[in-house]
Amino acid sequence: MTPLPHGIRAVVRALADDPTQGIANHLHIEEQAPPDPASLAPHDVIIAVKSACVSWVDALMTSGQYQHMPALPYTPGLEYSGVVAWIGADVDPARIAVGDEVYADGFQVGPRTSGAYQGWGGFASYAVAPARAVIPKPPSLSFDQACNFAGSYETAWHCLVACGDLQAGETILIHGASGATGLAAVQLAKALGATVIATGRTRSKLEVVAQHGADHVLTLGNEDGTPGVRRFRDDVKALTGGAGVDVVYDAVGGDISLESLRCVKFGARFLIVGWAATPAVAKGKGGRGAPNANLLPTNLIMMKGLKVLGCPMVISTQKDPSIRPPRVRHLKALAAEGKLAPHISHTFSLREAAAAVQARWTGKVIGGCAVNPPDLPGLPSA
Ligand SMILES: NC(=O)c1ccc[n+]([C@@H]2O[C@H](COP(=O)([O-])OP(=O)(O)OC[C@H]3O[C@@H](n4cnc5c(N)ncnc54)[C@H](OP(=O)(O)O)[C@@H]3O)[C@@H](O)[C@H]2O)c1
Repeated sequence: MTPLPHGIRAVVRALADDPTQGIANHLHIEEQAPPDPASLAPHDVIIAVKSACVSWVDALMTSGQYQHMPALPYTPGLEYSGVVAWIGADVDPARIAVGDEVYADGFQVGPRTSGAYQGWGGFASYAVAPARAVIPKPPSLSFDQACNFAGSYETAWHCLVACGDLQAGETILIHGASGATGLAAVQLAKALGATVIATGRTRSKLEVVAQHGADHVLTLGNEDGTPGVRRFRDDVKALTGGAGVDVVYDAVGGDISLESLRCVKFGARFLIVGWAATPAVAKGKGGRGAPNANLLPTNLIMMKGLKVLGCPMVISTQKDPSIRPPRVRHLKALAAEGKLAPHISHTFSLREAAAAVQARWTGKVIGGCAVNPPDLPGLPSA
């Protein structure tokens, strides 16, 4: 085999107090020597990374405020796609061959995992994955789309279907709809036959959300520009003939959650997906515990007969792996029908990794975001 050229990777060597500091001060780019095949297992695959997803979790992890902490130093990038550069002797070339376009399963490789492949994050020219975690890239998806698919759409499925039991004809209120998981939820809810009311802070971002199928979009800020959340229950009631919604998908939290509890039907399902508005619930620098935990308005929950459901996709799947294969099968089928397709609003060179994570953290991104390592001589280009 011709020796692989040197590349680059991003490395985090210390955790910060919060993601803003982590992104600015702890996300460094350094040279990456190519993986040495002699040091790898016979079932391993070297992937020349073409694109890595830039996620909310990548930002949160720089301060150790995400529930899972990789060992330091680590390379960010939970999901990535690329071209196979080498396969071990035990890998069946009929399934995976050098030159194949693939993506890697973030459940089995990268910083969100705990095993031998935790060190191979996607913010790098090269990653190593066991063959079982290497999946052919559907031709309909670009490299940027392929690495922005599984995590967000599996989250959307877990929340809407496994937890929320969303039915055709129901109405769902989706907060954080311009986000990675939110936009996936908008597309999936439409594919399932629901009516979608999507919310956000920015009219221009919501225009894109509407292009992806949302039936109605609502901005949530006060009309006069003062901080806080306006009384959006009146709009939701008007859009639902006074009835309120059947399901709330809440990826934002804070004041938005509270107001949401006032625009639901009796017995509605309230899906807790995340808390983008209150990310500092946990201690920084990897300290455990949640000194600033979000609080539940128990009076509203009781009087409305609400079903409040926590929806952690990865943790639920680790506890019951059998929920994953049908979810993946359904999502792939819907993607093949063209009903699900990640929207990528921003791409950056890997050398601009800090700017990329900053764009995600500060809400510049709509849907997906990716970093692309520089093309390497002698390897196929994206
Ligand atoms: N349940 C799970 O398994 C699971 C899986 C993945 C992620 N999550 C969680 O879900 C949340 C969203 O993740 P994501 O990947 O979709 O993130 P994202 O792509 O960054 O999107 C978050 C969206 O929330 C809105 N937002 C951000 N900060 C806000 C603030 N201060 N106030 C109001 N709205 C704000 C933004 O929309 P606008 O700018 O349009 O307002 C943004 O597009 C995070 O808390 C994440 O940890 C949960």
